[in-house]
Amino acid sequence: MRILGIETSCDETGVAIYDEQRGLIANQLYSQIEMHADYGGVVPELASRDHIRKTLPLIQAALKEANLTACEIDGVAYTAGPGLVGALLVGATIARSLAYAWGVPALGVHHMEGHLLAPMLEENPPQFPFVALLVSGGHTQLVKVDNVGDYQLLGESIDDAAGEAFDKTAKLLGLDYPGGAALAKLAEQGTPNRFIFPRPMTDRPGLDFSFSGLKTFAANTINQNLNPQGELDQQTRCDIAHAFQQAVIDTLIIKCKRALQQTGYKRLVIAGGVSANKQLRTDLAQLMQQLGGEVFYPRPQFCTDNGAMIAYAGFLRLKNGECTDLSVSVKPRWNMTELAKI
Ligand code: KG4
Ligand code: ZN
Repeated sequence: MRILGIETSCDETGVAIYDEQRGLIANQLYSQIEMHADYGGVVPELASRDHIRKTLPLIQAALKEANLTACEIDGVAYTAGPGLVGALLVGATIARSLAYAWGVPALGVHHMEGHLLAPMLEENPPQFPFVALLVSGGHTQLVKVDNVGDYQLLGESIDDAAGEAFDKTAKLLGLDYPGGAALAKLAEQGTPNRFIFPRPMTDRPGLDFSFSGLKTFAANTINQNLNPQGELDQQTRCDIAHAFQQAVIDTLIIKCKRALQQTGYKRLVIAGGVSANKQLRTDLAQLMQQLGGEVFYPRPQFCTDNGAMIAYAGFLRLKNGECTDLSVSVKPRWNMTELAKI
């Protein structure tokens, strides 16, 4: 079975082909980041229009990369939610139409299930069950994963997602959108412990997160440390970036440890854009060594949005006989625990 996967939920157009025997055989990605950077964030209407321009050429490029013709595709999977409604509708319309024309089934995939299953594309995939920490621009969730579709939400952010907090703090530090990776780079030059940020919601039981206060803490720290020219000197920028990043990471680690203790599971999966963060990976490796467990990640290019994770999640579900009807429908808000178990 060979599945074409299409991701258009936000600001990346991703197209990939997953082959049951050979694994991933094509992966194409176009990022709109440069276009949105001028506006300091994603402009939904511009995102939709750009997906319209890029999706079909990327599908052609993916077929060429895999040396396939359209009649060798057995199903089309697309991100049906959560995400920006206009952007989702572009992928859904193209996917549903191609599947109809090719006479194959189509399936709407949950974007976060795509992220969650992305580590399965690696050489050493995790076995079920495991705890998943999903950390992206729109979500921060701890999920108990017993099988594909068997998900229990253990905790989530009650306000900003971790990636969103990275991006907002990066903006305060004068970095372009989305500033998560750039902030992490600044943090590498930071002096540990010059500034200490709070570790929100770690002083009480539970597995929920709150990151919006860290952005305010960063804004106040910046204001208190401006030089006589009213600017931040470079070392202070790095030190604030370091303190912010360490607070997010420590908070995530404390909650991961709790989730593992609560479930008794020994395997942890981290996925979503923030899982590309090197310091987070280093600190989590240390935690798992201490707990005698194992941590699994997607390769860095599959931490952020991509078509491969949608092709793979779609393959598992289409193989199981699931498919959507002929209507084009998307779910901008969609709870992952509503998904069917496989
Ligand atoms: O999963 P993703 O590509 O998109 C969503 O589904 O939201 O995640 C994007 C998020 C952005 O907030 C971005 O700044 C953040 O992931 N990110 C990082 C790093 N690389 C990407 N945050 C911290 N450190 C990084 N290295
Ligand atoms: Zn994502």
